[in-house]
Formats: sequence, structure tokens, C-alpha cells
Amino acid sequence: MPQTNRAPSEELRPAADELAAEFERTFGRMPEAAWSAPGRVNLIGEYTDLNESFVLPIAIPRTTRAIVAARSDRALVMRSTQGYGEGPDLVTVQLGEADLPRGWAAYPAAVALALEVNGYPVPGAELLIDSDVPVGAGLSSSAALECAVAAALCSLAGARVAPMDLAVLARRAENDFVGVPCGIMDQAASMCCQDAHALMLDTRSHEVEQVPFDLAAAGLGLMVVDTRVKHELGASAYSRRWQACQLAARTLGVRALRDVGPSEVESSLRALAGVWDGEVLKRARHVFTEQARVLHVVEVLRSGDPAAMGPDLLAGHASLRDDFEVSCAELDAVVDAACAAGAIGARMTGAGFGGSAIVLAEEARLGAIGSVVRAAFDDRGFAPPHCFPVTASAGAHRMF
Ligand code: GLA
Repeated sequence: MPQTNRAPSEELRPAADELAAEFERTFGRMPEAAWSAPGRVNLIGEYTDLNESFVLPIAIPRTTRAIVAARSDRALVMRSTQGYGEGPDLVTVQLGEADLPRGWAAYPAAVALALEVNGYPVPGAELLIDSDVPVGAGLSSSAALECAVAAALCSLAGARVAPMDLAVLARRAENDFVGVPCGIMDQAASMCCQDAHALMLDTRSHEVEQVPFDLAAAGLGLMVVDTRVKHELGASAYSRRWQACQLAARTLGVRALRDVGPSEVESSLRALAGVWDGEVLKRARHVFTEQARVLHVVEVLRSGDPAAMGPDLLAGHASLRDDFEVSCAELDAVVDAACAAGAIGARMTGAGFGGSAIVLAEEARLGAIGSVVRAAFDDRGFAPPHCFPVTASAGAHRMF
């Protein structure tokens, strides 16, 4: 039987009482609250959030937990049990200070700043972070961290904040303080997804629809293939893509590319071709076609036929590879090998330049497809990818 690496289930993770005990070992007293927030994969709708359009992510059963207790002073004292890399064991920042620590601790510090700047009182706190969301895999480990911390700090302060509002605050932390110009998708997915559903999110109005996504009932499964590569280009290329989309929108006289309806796509592309070189044109074409794919996938999911999304996944990948130019050899190899091995669909997910792809297939075939992908990586001299099945999981929730 071919092996796929198993995603850790709730049972395999430290339970709430073990996390409380770890907190007590670290800080010498019991915590007051713990929140869990998941990573995500996006089914379709890539780079559409930068264009105020629709996205369709699911939360995955990989989470970050933030365990907290209030302090009487203005210090935020933090420790991560694993997974966030280098740095001293305990990191202390003074609330209100704009200088962020380096490494993983920048994110909780940025969240505390974003909460304060937006009028939410943040108490000094001790904060333990535990996570099994792979870092740098394009599965939104930073959004999971931001959302878990935002929710935990709010519960310490007794502030009741709606999940989408917390997602907006977590995004602000990343945009305004960490300095990453991301859209709202990852934080919204982490806060608002539901078990067995995909989140249809209008990134302009923040309206959501929970779209049934129960693959097992259709005999299907979804596998994440983490290529384990991160090409350095990522951050600046992301901003450049956004700028190209904004140029295209300005040229067309619309607020965002989302405002170009299906009947206006051809004439808009002609108008752009008259002004800009191929780069702006191709970026806009990706957004137009991707927007249509999201709407089509939502339609097939609503009709209870998830296998019918396969061609949209493949077309989405081709568009990200050829028009948006954010794929890479490893991601293309996943898609090609998975399709050759009988997948129904596959595509890169998230920002690209490495990170992860998703593979949709009959559940019984996923293991064999994982083996074919690994063999293809081996043939091409790529380091072994990490394959694991995922199901649409719950968004952020309080553990105690
Ligand atoms: C990253 C960003 C998201 C989104 C995707 C691309 O994950 O954080 O906001 O733009 O890239 O779809």
C-alpha cells in the first residue's frame, strides 16, 4: 500500500490539558484561555483577493494554538514550542512599541499593535504558541498564528469581536506592521471556515457563503503536496503582480478588476493590449478567467458534484503558470505527475513560487498518486515533497 503522510488529527495533537500544563511549566501558572486557528488551502480564486473578487478556500486540519494569561504590566512575553524557527526561547516586547522582534514573534507583536491601534484594549500577557501548520509551505501559517493570537488576546480583554472583524485586524497586522501586502483570504479562511464546507468569500463586501464540500460523500479526497521549496522571488513578485492589476484597473477606469463583467472581458483585454505590454495584459487575463472559475466551481459544488471542478483546477493552474507566472518547476511537476496518475484535478494553491499544490482524486487513488508525484520529483532531482490528505475543517475556535 503506497504511503501518504498522515495529517495529524485532533487526537494526535497535544490536548487542551497538555497545552495548559506546558504553559504552566513555561510561565509558572495556569493559563486563562486557549484559541486554535487553522491554516488553509485555496480551492480556486488565486490572487483574486487583490482585485476585490471572490475566493474559495477551506481550512485544513493543521492548526496553531495560542494559550494565554493576562499580566498586570504592559509586557507581552512569548514562547513557541516548535515550528517557527530561530530565536531565543522567551521573547518579551513592551506593548505599544513599534519595533517588532525578529522571526515568529513579530506576528503576535504585530497583532497586539493592530488591536491597540484599532481601539481594542490589549492587556500585557504571557503567550505560548504551539503549531502543526508547516511554515513556508503556502498553507498560511502566518495567518493561523495571527488569528489564534488575535482571538486569544481579545478573549483576555473580554472583547467580543466578530470572526470577520478579527480577520480584518489580523490582516492589518500583517499589512501595516509586518509589512507583507497580502489580501484578506488567509485570515478570513482561518477565522470563518466551517467543517465540511468551503468558504465563498466576496473580498470586497466580506459577505460569505458556506458551500458544502464533503468530498468523502462523493468518494473523493484532496491531498496537499508541499513541494518544500520557497523561491526567493516571492515577496517582491507578489507586489509586482498587485501593481500590474492596479495598472490594468486604472486603465480600464474601474475600481478593481473585479468590476469587469464577463461580457466586458474581450473588449477590456483589447483596450489593455493597446496601452500595455504583455505583462499587464496577462495578469488581467488571469484575474478575469479566475473570477469566472470561482463562480463555476461554486455552482458545481452547490449542485453536489465536486468531481466537476477538476477542469477548473487544471485551467486555474495553467493560468497561474502562463498568465500570472507565479508557478515553478516543482509545482508544475506535481500537477503533471498527478494528472498522469489519474487525478481529477490539481493546481498550485496560495501565492506560488514554491509552497504547495492540491490534488483532487478518487479517495482510493490518492496514495498511489502521492507515490507517482514522489517518483517524478526523484527523477527530476527535486527534494522529496510532503504529501498529506486534508479535509475541510473548522475555523478558529476557543479550546478553553
Ligand atoms: C497569499 C496572500 C493572499 C492571496 C494569495 C494568492 O496567500 O496572503 O491574500 O493573495 O496569496 O491568492
